[in-house]
Amino acid sequence: MSFREFLQTEFLPYGSLSPGQLDRLEKHYELMMRWNERLNLTRISDLEEVVRFHYCESLFVGRVLPAGPLSIGDFGSGAGFPGFPLAVVRPDLRVTLIESDARKSVFLREASRELQNVTVVQNRFEQYRGTFDWVVSRAVSPEDVFRSGLATNFALLTSSEGIRLGAEVIRLPWGRDRVLRCSTWNVSRETKKDKSKVAKVIAISNQKGGVGKTTTAINLGASLAANDLKILLVDFDPQGNSTSGLGIEKQSGMLTIYDSLLRDVPLEQVVHRTECDGLDLIPADKNLVAADLDLVDAFEREHVLSKILAQIRDQYRYILIDCPPALDLLTLNALVAADSVLIPIQCEFFALEGISQLMDTIDKVRQGFSHPLDIEGILLTMYDDRTNLTRTVAEDLRDFFQDDVLQTIIPRSVRLAEAPSHGKPILMYDPRSRGAESYIRLAKEILENEQHRNRKTQAAR
Ligand SMILES: Nc1ncnc2c1ncn2[C@@H]1O[C@H](COP(=O)(O)OP(=O)(O)OP(=O)(O)O)[C@@H](O)[C@H]1O
Ligand SMILES: [Mg+2]
Repeated sequence: MSFREFLQTEFLPYGSLSPGQLDRLEKHYELMMRWNERLNLTRISDLEEVVRFHYCESLFVGRVLPAGPLSIGDFGSGAGFPGFPLAVVRPDLRVTLIESDARKSVFLREASRELQNVTVVQNRFEQYRGTFDWVVSRAVSPEDVFRSGLATNFALLTSSEGIRLGAEVIRLPWGRDRVLRCSTWNVSRETKKDKSKVAKVIAISNQKGGVGKTTTAINLGASLAANDLKILLVDFDPQGNSTSGLGIEKQSGMLTIYDSLLRDVPLEQVVHRTECDGLDLIPADKNLVAADLDLVDAFEREHVLSKILAQIRDQYRYILIDCPPALDLLTLNALVAADSVLIPIQCEFFALEGISQLMDTIDKVRQGFSHPLDIEGILLTMYDDRTNLTRTVAEDLRDFFQDDVLQTIIPRSVRLAEAPSHGKPILMYDPRSRGAESYIRLAKEILENEQHRNRKTQAAR
């Protein structure tokens, strides 16, 4: 198979390449192979590897960067990865390839002659004067990028070991700002680190519909994962909104939480990786409606979810359960399986409607099952600071619930409402939006609260 055919086939699941783009990439490949005989541009010479690890990875970076006329710096560009293929597939980006080696810089100039959106700079990146929206690099560590102060907003890095396409892209807060890393090494490191821990399970519940449970489950999950933590989101609602909101298509025959709950399918077989690195999902679909009835006759029927989650609890740092809008047997299972419950409340009239029933149910779980279920917090959602109504409701809720109300407030945001239809958390859909900011803050608050509680427990011992 030729370079061109192989590249097209290999990248097809992630996007198609136009004939013009394939031409440019092929020319770059041919030039690189010719120059490689004289100049060590790349150690990889095997066609398959070059296509997968150099071109596909770089092209994939183009898929995850936000749209717009962003300035991109490729530090230590070498043969032009990831900057060159990125510039080919994303003409909206302005890409600067920074390379200190004089001969490699000549190669880069020669290769990118026809690309209007590429500038080649022969310099050490530390000495470059100017800043970028994003930095892409496989030669420079994230720490060095931030120390250089050159990335005003984001840095995106790929490791030299290669990323598995699609599977391992994460966004995480780093230093002053956020970083999107595409790599395998940090993921395996995190998995190992997590082995000694057991996940904290948080049920996201409110029997009132449309208050932001699913939006919170998806975006809190992604924001926690962005802190380099392994997170599992259990879609426990027959509507399956967390499943579709994370871009997992509900195909017939797909294993769901129902199969583990009632057909003894090991949970590991039901877990899906999501596009968001570090965030896994157990999907649900309408079959789960039946579970509410099918569970009635089950042995210790309120404990079924808790028991099956035990199978994989040591593999994650947090497990979030997106509950249905009902106080049914499913929600009871979620509360029994959980260490704490996070209650989203929409800032509107009747916000408190039904809350006393939820609180009664929480008490029932605590007493009836001797289960020390904590309140993780009340989360005010869809807050609109332009209206007096939401401000008043928020104040009332704070008066009523006092310290149980989390500091972070989720604003009403069109971008948050749009993201699920693109199958993405807000961090991937619009990482600079207010919605994204608020869920990053929420993750931080939840992590800090846990540290605080742990310190208090230790001090009490
Ligand atoms: N902060 C927000 N700003 C704007 N729209 C939002 C916000 N949070 C959620 N929405 C939108 O409101 C609707 C309900 O949100 P969501 O599905 O998260 O609620 P839910 O409590 O899970 O609903 P259900 O009870 O049906 O499961 C969705 O269309 C969602 O996109
Ligand atoms: Mg929901």
